Amino acid sequence: MLLNRNVLTGILLIFLLMGVLYYSNYLTYSFMSVEQEELTADSRHVEVHFQSHELHMVAPDHLKYDQPSIVSGRNDVVTVTPWLAPVVWEGTFNPVLLDSIYKLQNITVAATAFAVGKYVMFLKDFLETAEQHFFVGFRVHMYVFTDQPDSVPQIKMSADRQLTVLPVPSSKRWQEISARRLELIQKLIEEKLRNNSDYIFCLDVDSKVHGRWGAESLGGLIAVIHPGYYRDNRKKFPYERRPESRAYIATGEGDFYYCGGAFGGLLQEVHQLAKICCANFEADAKEGTEAAWQEESHLNRYMWINKPSKVLSPEYLRQNFYSQKPGGSHHQVLWSCQELC
Ligand SMILES: *[C@@H]1O[C@H](CO)[C@@H](O)[C@H](O)[C@H]1NC(C)=O
Ligand SMILES: *[C@@H]1O[C@H](CO)[C@@H](O)[C@H](O)[C@H]1NC(C)=O
Repeated sequence: MLLNRNVLTGILLIFLLMGVLYYSNYLTYSFMSVEQEELTADSRHVEVHFQSHELHMVAPDHLKYDQPSIVSGRNDVVTVTPWLAPVVWEGTFNPVLLDSIYKLQNITVAATAFAVGKYVMFLKDFLETAEQHFFVGFRVHMYVFTDQPDSVPQIKMSADRQLTVLPVPSSKRWQEISARRLELIQKLIEEKLRNNSDYIFCLDVDSKVHGRWGAESLGGLIAVIHPGYYRDNRKKFPYERRPESRAYIATGEGDFYYCGGAFGGLLQEVHQLAKICCANFEADAKEGTEAAWQEESHLNRYMWINKPSKVLSPEYLRQNFYSQKPGGSHHQVLWSCQELC
């Protein structure tokens, strides 16, 4: 009997101990989970702070515009990528609505252009047509990199727009200009834009903006489909095909052929793109490799892995086949919202 009672007390004590252990475990567990939640909430807060423009679209109350439809619209083109990014074609968006949404966000759009050597001759048309069509009514800050600051034409700009000329050394080979471009864009974002712009577009100076280019083009990472290849099978795209280059894209891979002469998006997205493409470009150069289309090849490689959040249709660019540009077919004229199909 005595032995039995001792055994019973022992068993009871063990259960009690287990109970205490379980409870203290539970306490530790719930304490830790609260801490973890706070940490996650904190880091999420930081991201929200960066991305606020993209996450929250507020339209003005009582804005009148045509009723949208989800059963009729453009059916001659594809308006969404396989990763569900919109492809912006004329007629897929309402310009009045989009402008109203982005006006409320009080955004500043920066744009860069490189006018080195004889490319300064393109500046006048570029700046004048941008003034007429590029983000009209928004705060726009154009940054022109040039080796001839005195040759930058005086363009009449509206009060909410400004032009900053940034001197760069001359360079004979346009491949070198192209290489330096990404590095200068990265530095510009770090040193000048971080506190005063929301979006940036990097545009080729030998371009003219022929039609509206506005808030419909805003998003995280923006790519433009090259008008020269949009109907082609991807095995014909002029991607870099040598595996030794960091811009390599294998046959049977790749989504679209994107244009190196126009890309953009949120500052932090374009900063990352410029940083990575520039590093890959330089690492290639150290090994004596130059990608087929330099910066454009690295950009295409980057966008194959980092999918753009919005893709602008080839309506936004039109090739000028009478190009004087060394290197041939890559001269383009920004040709917004023109029917190509
Ligand atoms: C809009 O942005 C500009 C420049 O960033 C700033 O000076 C101005 O105060 C802002 N306006 C509003 C209403 O927030
Ligand atoms: C941006 O603003 C932060 C604080 O508001 C400041 O520390 C930083 O130096 C500024 N950066 C630039 C490039 O002006």
